[in-house]
Amino acid sequence: MPTEYKTQVLPADAAGIALAAQYLRQGVPFALPTETVYGIAADAANAGAVRGIFVAKGRPQDNPLIVHIADMGQLSGLVAAVPERAQKLAAAFWPGPLTMVLPRGAGVCDAATAGLDTVGVRMPSHPVVQAVIRAAGGIAFAAPSANLSGRPSPTTAADTLADMDGRLPLILDGGPCTVGVESTVVSLAGERPLLLRPGAVTKEQMERVLGEEVPLSGAILDKLKPGQTARSPGMKYKHYAPKAELTLVKGDLAAFKACLAAQAEQDAGGLWALCFTGEGQGLPVPALEYGAENDPAEQARRLFSALRELDARGARAALVRCPAARGVGLAVYNRLLRAAAFRVVEL
Ligand code: TXA
Ligand code: MG
Repeated sequence: MPTEYKTQVLPADAAGIALAAQYLRQGVPFALPTETVYGIAADAANAGAVRGIFVAKGRPQDNPLIVHIADMGQLSGLVAAVPERAQKLAAAFWPGPLTMVLPRGAGVCDAATAGLDTVGVRMPSHPVVQAVIRAAGGIAFAAPSANLSGRPSPTTAADTLADMDGRLPLILDGGPCTVGVESTVVSLAGERPLLLRPGAVTKEQMERVLGEEVPLSGAILDKLKPGQTARSPGMKYKHYAPKAELTLVKGDLAAFKACLAAQAEQDAGGLWALCFTGEGQGLPVPALEYGAENDPAEQARRLFSALRELDARGARAALVRCPAARGVGLAVYNRLLRAAAFRVVEL
């Protein structure tokens, strides 16, 4: 692991924001909170700075980054066109957890887009993001989630430090993220809109604003077959995964208990359950809860820290209660499918 830096974790107050803005101007990557997850930011126009992000994360170079802006004025230099659909979605959901993939403009370097002719742009609602961009004099930044590639995204400064210690000079601490899963990614670069990654802005909400269907990319629910290419390159990797081997269990609580009991009989060593609030007590193995069964926003907020907690407790494997794949729950289900490398048991 590179130990180039002595990593400072600073509160996101005036001094912290001023230091972050200085790094942004100088082309030095650093971590900061957004409403979705913590990110690693660097000037989207500066190829050297953006390459530093890929090094810090250990991320494959073919996976493009999202560019973050603080106001609509910054959009014009980054994209070649703002289609009518993008204007409607921006009016409805920005600032907020929505990324739009648009035809690429000149103000973003090749390293950030992985050479694609499109660019993903989002305007976060988190006040720290807005403050850092303004303090740097209006620099749009590229930022992936601040995890080591393949690990669950961090939703606190402490989880960011666990992955990035020694790899970045600064982590701004803005407290826990309120959304907890990464932004919704929708492509508006083609003939029809296409949902590439589900998030807190739901398919149903976008359909109401656009007055048309927003189909799901096949990569959201299915494993890619060999030779098939992903529209959103990030969807092709095993992802969001803790060290513990996860298996998603579809079915009710009784089926989940039966499945746990059967597994525990073979080998209970290090077997855990990841379940809904209030269910942990009655299970035959130790359990972590990740939110109420009927509250997908809470599940989204708690999921990634629960996955990291499994590792902290030394879990070898975990069976996971499957969320309902609707609304925000679709985002939770999509992340769990990947974290489980598509191991699903249906009872
Ligand atoms: O909430 C978020 O979006 C967080 C915070 C930090 O803003 N960022 C984030 O970035 O999740 P990252 O790099 O971990 O995920 C970006 C996703 C990847 O799946 C990537 O393939 C996709 O967006 N993406 C980015 N640009 C794209 C493009 N031009 N076309 C298709 N997919 C794109
Ligand atoms: Mg990520």
